[in-house]
Amino acid sequence: MTRTLRVFDIDQLVQIVIDLKKADPNLEDLGFSWSRESLMNELKVGCGLGLWKGNDLVAFILYRKAGEALEITLLCTRAGSQKRGAMTELFGKFCEINLDKDIWLDVHEKNHKALNLYKKIGFKQNGRRPRYYKDGSAAILMIYQH
Ligand SMILES: CC(C)(COP(=O)(O)OP(=O)(O)OC[C@H]1O[C@@H](n2cnc3c(N)ncnc32)[C@H](O)[C@@H]1OP(=O)(O)O)[C@@H](O)C(=O)NCCC(=O)NCCS
Repeated sequence: MTRTLRVFDIDQLVQIVIDLKKADPNLEDLGFSWSRESLMNELKVGCGLGLWKGNDLVAFILYRKAGEALEITLLCTRAGSQKRGAMTELFGKFCEINLDKDIWLDVHEKNHKALNLYKKIGFKQNGRRPRYYKDGSAAILMIYQH
């Protein structure tokens, strides 16, 4: 089941982020520095869509409206549920309900899992911001058009 995320979902978002950082300590180096406060801020000022199995949040997409487009600020699949098609499924639903909008995002050039995902689901590179991250790496700017 998918549904819009609300502020009362914050605990599950925080737990997913904590577990991801534990499972992959290199994530912080890839600019993945989300705190409870910054996640809560996205739930309040942005929007979110979650994929649920029963009461458990398996994957989520946080995004903001940017004029005629949408900008994804964060997407994650729970550690232990990855590489099973969860984000592909959730992104499919996200597209279905946003058919009239382009979707933008940016990603650390060394986040290979995420880059592979974006290419697989149809994003195209449309820019590059050199030295964008603390470690001197570039951000790859990507766009999805229906
Ligand atoms: C990126 C992420 C969201 C992918 O979610 P997922 O549910 O595992 O993705 P899917 O199972 O739908 O996989 C879709 C594609 O992503 C790519 N992918 C996913 N996991 C991968 C891995 N471990 N290694 C390489 N490519 C991978 C593959 O192209 C895969 O297609 P395939 O299964 O046909 O090879 C997940 O790895 C994640 O939460 N990463 C940590 C958070 C993060 O970096 N978010 C993005 C930046 S904010």
